[in-house]
Amino acid sequence: MTSYSAFAQAVAALAPRTAIVLGSGLAGAAAAFVEHAAVSFAAIPGWAVPTVAGHGGRVVVGEWGGTPALLFQGRLHFYEGHPWSMVTTPIRMAQQWGITRIILTNAAGGIHPALTPGSVMALRGHLAWLTPQSWRQLARGQGLSQPYTPRLLQLLHAHEQAHGRTLFSGIYAALTGPSYETPAEIRALAICGADAVGMSTAMEAEEAARWGLEVAGISCITNKAAGLGETTLAHAEVLINAHRAVARVGELLCRLIHEPSR
Ligand code: HPA
Repeated sequence: MTSYSAFAQAVAALAPRTAIVLGSGLAGAAAAFVEHAAVSFAAIPGWAVPTVAGHGGRVVVGEWGGTPALLFQGRLHFYEGHPWSMVTTPIRMAQQWGITRIILTNAAGGIHPALTPGSVMALRGHLAWLTPQSWRQLARGQGLSQPYTPRLLQLLHAHEQAHGRTLFSGIYAALTGPSYETPAEIRALAICGADAVGMSTAMEAEEAARWGLEVAGISCITNKAAGLGETTLAHAEVLINAHRAVARVGELLCRLIHEPSR
């Protein structure tokens, strides 16, 4: 692990254009990433340290198949007590480092019947009105219509089709957690059009779009949402099922990293 200033120099030297935020239990999706330098969140001025199991709290710069990239291993959540401005700090930092495309990954509960544990969903939209709305005041009404870049979504669909698979793209409902939802809340979310539910990503996506970054979102479905499966939800189950989807998520990340920037 290096100092912040040494890390900033390594970023400037490699000049990555794509950044990835790795969600709960998804560290293995970036196994092919070759590290050049890493810094802990704690060593970055003004950053907080994640407290959730499965979130490393490191930023790494390196290469993936010869293409430079930046990797956030872990993220900060509202439910850990951070203000929204802190939750979205990594996005602004990435933008200042010259990043033009951000890929947000997360673990999510499946609401749509097709989204069973171990499956993958690309985000084509989100519902975020069940989170405290103070974070949208930061945006002052700008650019909320479509944070997820349609071109990137099309690339992901084409990639999966070329490999004989169908990619599910759907709507992610962002709640603040930290407790999982009630079955009644999940039924309400389903009626409102949500396909999956989680506790992150939406605010980061809107912040990134506001700063002019291309945005892709990928959910790894770790469990059936509350009331839809046979087991009681637990963070341990989330981590185990995240491992089942890491290879496919890794392929999608690789595809996006190698797409030239616009
Ligand atoms: N609900 C909210 N967040 C989650 C879930 C869930 O079912 N699974 C993983 N993250």
